[in-house]
Amino acid sequence: ESKALMPPDITARKRKQLIVCLTAYTTPIARLVDRHCDVVLVGDSVGMVLHGLPSTLGVTLDMMIMHGKAVRRGLERALMVVDMPFGSYEEGREQAFRNAARLMAETGCAAVKLEGGEAMAETIRFLTGRGIPVMAHVGLTPQSVNVFGGYKVQGRGEDGDGILRDAVAVAEAGAFALVLEKVAEPLARRITAEVTIPTIGIGASAACDGQILVVDDILGMFTGFRPKFVKRYAELGLAADAAIAAYAADVREGRFPAAEHLYADLSKAGEVA
Ligand code: KIV
Ligand code: NA
Repeated sequence: ESKALMPPDITARKRKQLIVCLTAYTTPIARLVDRHCDVVLVGDSVGMVLHGLPSTLGVTLDMMIMHGKAVRRGLERALMVVDMPFGSYEEGREQAFRNAARLMAETGCAAVKLEGGEAMAETIRFLTGRGIPVMAHVGLTPQSVNVFGGYKVQGRGEDGDGILRDAVAVAEAGAFALVLEKVAEPLARRITAEVTIPTIGIGASAACDGQILVVDDILGMFTGFRPKFVKRYAELGLAADAAIAAYAADVREGRFPAAEHLYADLSKAGEVA
C-alpha cells in the first residue's frame, strides 16, 4: 500500500506521468475513486449534481465541509482537494485564508481549489505562503457564469492570450496545479507547454498533463445536461430507474415482500430469526 499523495507529488508528475482526477462527494464513491485516481476533488459541482441547484453559485462553505468530511473518510491514497465556493474567497486574501483554513481543518483535505487567474494571483500567493496548497482553475470558471453569459468555450479568439496570462500568473503565484476548463485545444496545448505546473483538463483536450471529470457524469447518474467533453462509462441512472420501477411494480402487484424477506414468529417451534 502506497502512501498518500501530496501536492508536490502531483506537481512533479508534469511531463512524466499523466494525472488522473475525478470528483467525489460521498464516502462510498470516494472509496472507489481512491482505488484508481491520483486526485479526488470535492467540487462545488456538488450543488448541481447532488442538490439540484441551477448553478454552483448557491453552494455554501458548510455544504463543502459536510461533503468534504464524507469524502475524507473514504480516502487512503489520493490527494484530496476541496473547492472554495462562490463568495468564500473573492473579497480578499484574509477572507480566503480564513475560509480555506476552515476547509482544511474541518475536512482534512490537503489543498483547496479556487477559480480565477491574474485577479486571484495575490490570494494564491498568500495562501500558499501560509500552508495552504492551492489548485487554480482558469478558462471557463462556472462561478462567473453571469459574467460570461453562459458556459461557452473559452480561448477561441482574442481571449486566448488573457487565459495564457491567467495560467502563467497562478503558476508564478505558487499554485501546485491548474484546472483548465473548456478551452480550445490549441490554447490548452500552448498553456501546457508554457506553464511550469501541471494542467488538468476538463474539456481542454489530451494536450493537458492530466484530466478531470465529474464522477456522476461518467457514471451516467447526472443527466440534467451533457457537455461534449463528457464520456459516459456507465449508465447507472438508467439502471437505477429500472430498479426503482421494478420495486414499485412489485409492491403494487403484491410480489414484494416475498417469503424470504419475512421475519418469522419466534414463538413458533423450529423457526430461526
Ligand atoms: O466543481 C467541479 O466539479 C470542478 C471540476 C470538474 C473541475 O470544478
Ligand atoms: Na468547481
